Amino acid sequence: MPVDTFDKVYLPNIEENKTEWLQDYLKGGGYDGSKKALEMAPETIINVVKDSGLRGRGGAGFPTGVKWGFLPKDVHPRYLTVNADESEPGTCKDRPLMEQRPHTLIDGCIATCLAIEAEAAYIYIRGEYYKSAKVMQQAIDEAYEAGFLGDNIFGSGKKVDVYVHRGAGAYICGEETALLTSLEGYRGYPRLKPPFPAVSGLYGKPTIINNVETIISVPFILTKGADWFKSYVHERSTGLRLYSVSGHVKKPGVLELPMTVTLREMIYDYCGGIRNDHDVKFVIPGGSSVPWLLPHQLDTVMSMEGVNAAGSFLGSAAVMVLDHTVCPVWAVTNLSAFYRHESCGQCTPCREGSAWMHKILMRIENGGATMADLETLESIAGTGKPNTGMISGKSICALGDASAWPVGSAIQCFRDEFVKHIEEGGCSYRNKRFWMSGDKFVNETAEHHPRWH
Ligand SMILES: Cc1cc2nc3c(=O)[nH]c(=O)nc-3n(C[C@H](O)[C@H](O)[C@H](O)COP(=O)(O)O)c2cc1C
Ligand code: SF4
Repeated sequence: MPVDTFDKVYLPNIEENKTEWLQDYLKGGGYDGSKKALEMAPETIINVVKDSGLRGRGGAGFPTGVKWGFLPKDVHPRYLTVNADESEPGTCKDRPLMEQRPHTLIDGCIATCLAIEAEAAYIYIRGEYYKSAKVMQQAIDEAYEAGFLGDNIFGSGKKVDVYVHRGAGAYICGEETALLTSLEGYRGYPRLKPPFPAVSGLYGKPTIINNVETIISVPFILTKGADWFKSYVHERSTGLRLYSVSGHVKKPGVLELPMTVTLREMIYDYCGGIRNDHDVKFVIPGGSSVPWLLPHQLDTVMSMEGVNAAGSFLGSAAVMVLDHTVCPVWAVTNLSAFYRHESCGQCTPCREGSAWMHKILMRIENGGATMADLETLESIAGTGKPNTGMISGKSICALGDASAWPVGSAIQCFRDEFVKHIEEGGCSYRNKRFWMSGDKFVNETAEHHPRWH
């Protein structure tokens, strides 16, 4: 695919990292999405979004217009909640959206509130994103001042309020029902579904929860049309997508691309290849929760269907590329520590299973494990596929699956390396592992990494 042959719409000037304040947004036709929505009946807006094929950008890829259609008739008040928790490791695209395009997000909130007949939208922002919250609040203040938010938006007689709510640093609060519990002021525990939030959400009222990128797509769809959105298509994946690419590529960052791009094109054409021209060892294609891809799968089309066909998920489209210097056992031990720490502890399979997996992985990585440990690990983690092992499909929320899939997948991809660790009494990569220190590659030793002691 030729590089950059289409107009970027979400983050056209991402490198400049400048906030588009109200005056600049209005110069480029700002708030046309909301104005258009005001001329349309709610169900017409929902139908346009359905027709565009927009699917959620937060992880599960559920069709947005279909979700909006689940709201029970004549039950009010209803709420919109924008999921800006962005805590899935590797994901970093909602942050530039909020910091560079805050008014486009507010435009999306207004248009969505009009579609779902809500009068209030809450933007739940990851606690660590201090600047995003500050920029969003300043833009919201500008919008109130201009009469675009409040009791009489654009002089229409309709009411829309938008509030910023800051999280407190828990990954689990990105899970939609935990987010609602946290927004209500309680500890962020996920809730059993059903009932789904569209039926009983915030304060027990019908609530729509969508990711930042999903909501920001709405004004583009309303002003440019569903056909424009559908002109970028691979199977049922429509529209442009923001990929957060990290790891050992030469030029990491947020890429805005149609979902027809392949993994190979992404790595070599858009990100300049792998550091020191090393080989790819494995790729995590959709945020740290998803099964891994191997070098023979580099021609995978990076759409939801393309990645599914390769045995994984596009998730939040956070693509982590790891080169041949990386020990897969060490990498998955690191991920496993994250999930163990972030499990909210409500369900036994996730709470106990994530800790158990991490303990066994530490033993394999550091020495002292037996083949029986590997068998136990496999029985807990499963094969990296849904509903395998002791955790996946057996807990309240998908964090349980997220803790198990990478472990099951790592064993499927690199079982021989797990066995080698057990036979050799630990990780043989330790003295071969390279790290960036400033702009230099350094060899990892115990002195650099005290945790190996
Ligand atoms: C543990 C966990 C963490 C999640 N974190 C996020 C997040 O940070 N941002 C997000 O948009 N969705 C996150 N999700 C997905 C949300 O539950 C939900 O599916 C999403 O916000 C729906 O929006 P969408 O339909 O626009 O994708 C997470 C899910 C789980 C299970
Ligand atoms: S699966 Fe894990 S994170 Fe989700 S509710 Fe159960 S214990 Fe909490």
